[in-house]
Amino acid sequence: MKVLVVGGAGYIGSHAVLELIKKQHEVIVFDNLTSGFEDMVSEQATLIIGDIRDKSALDAVFKEHNDIDVVMHFAAKIVVPESVEKPLEYYSNNVEGVRVLLESMQEHNIKNIVFSSTAAVYGEASGVCFEDDPTQPINPYGETKLATERMIKWVTQAYGMKYLIFRYFNVAGADQSLKVGLKKDQLTHLIPVAIQALIGLREKLLIYGDDYDTEDGTCVRDYIHVSDLAYAHVLGATYLKDGGQSTTINLGSNQGYSVLDVAKTVQKIGDMTYEITERRPGDPAKLIASNEKAKKLLHWEPKYGLEDIVNSDFEFRKTLKK
Ligand code: UFG
Repeated sequence: MKVLVVGGAGYIGSHAVLELIKKQHEVIVFDNLTSGFEDMVSEQATLIIGDIRDKSALDAVFKEHNDIDVVMHFAAKIVVPESVEKPLEYYSNNVEGVRVLLESMQEHNIKNIVFSSTAAVYGEASGVCFEDDPTQPINPYGETKLATERMIKWVTQAYGMKYLIFRYFNVAGADQSLKVGLKKDQLTHLIPVAIQALIGLREKLLIYGDDYDTEDGTCVRDYIHVSDLAYAHVLGATYLKDGGQSTTINLGSNQGYSVLDVAKTVQKIGDMTYEITERRPGDPAKLIASNEKAKKLLHWEPKYGLEDIVNSDFEFRKTLKK
């Protein structure tokens, strides 16, 4: 397969590129490098630097590579609290960016898109989320992803294209090679922040609220290893190319862990201090995936558990020292 990975220099995109290359697929990466890194792009992929809101840049890619089988989209802003503060940036990048991408794909007769969406579209879920559950995001990040999902459905239907929408739960960890992982100046996600507290790069982990309606009062999430998630994209792209119908699939583990469970898992590696503080705006109490559909349709199953995820982020962060 020939695959265009939009956002392939970023955290999840770079892992997808590695998995595609392992399976001998041809990969072109398109990335504006605002949060991606050139050195995270495999040497076996072709890197084109550009922004998805720049239609002429995308047109040039599809003109040169008019035999692309599948486009994968990872070029989104993904931080819930930042989306609450800067919603316009989220609408511009996450919604308008995909609109331009779809327009260019349609004009160049590129038929298949694999889109990264999120569990945040479910909003205040009551427990385990199924793909057909009602969607009711409670933060701008989730709203932008849901708006884009809907746009993709209308556009692909109108122009004879196909989509696979993946709704990710909480992605963390790093590839075994430790060449790629989550790199950022200001980390906000629970696992890397807890690892920073473990290795002395911050004083402690602040836990945002212990008065939620969950067993220990802290929020519950479904954590999934980035390499498991990346591999699902290879299966998903193959599914579309081989004639599979458009559909939406959760990527998670079927299992929930509280923030305190995660803190305790990190403490198995060494000393890590945490402190309970105020709730953070935009956080739903509990998000857990049903992954039955992914198992059935793609024959996908996660290989790694919470300890593997935490340990791999720890190993990666030691290589960075920040
Ligand atoms: N948390 C803390 N302290 C921290 C960081 C996070 O207590 O320093 C808590 C949060 O309040 C939340 C949980 O840990 O309850 C997980 O928070 P993250 O910031 O790691 O992740 P989110 O659940 O907010 O969001 C992530 C992705 C979204 C995705 C969502 C799906 O960023 O893209 O998972 O579940 F939609």
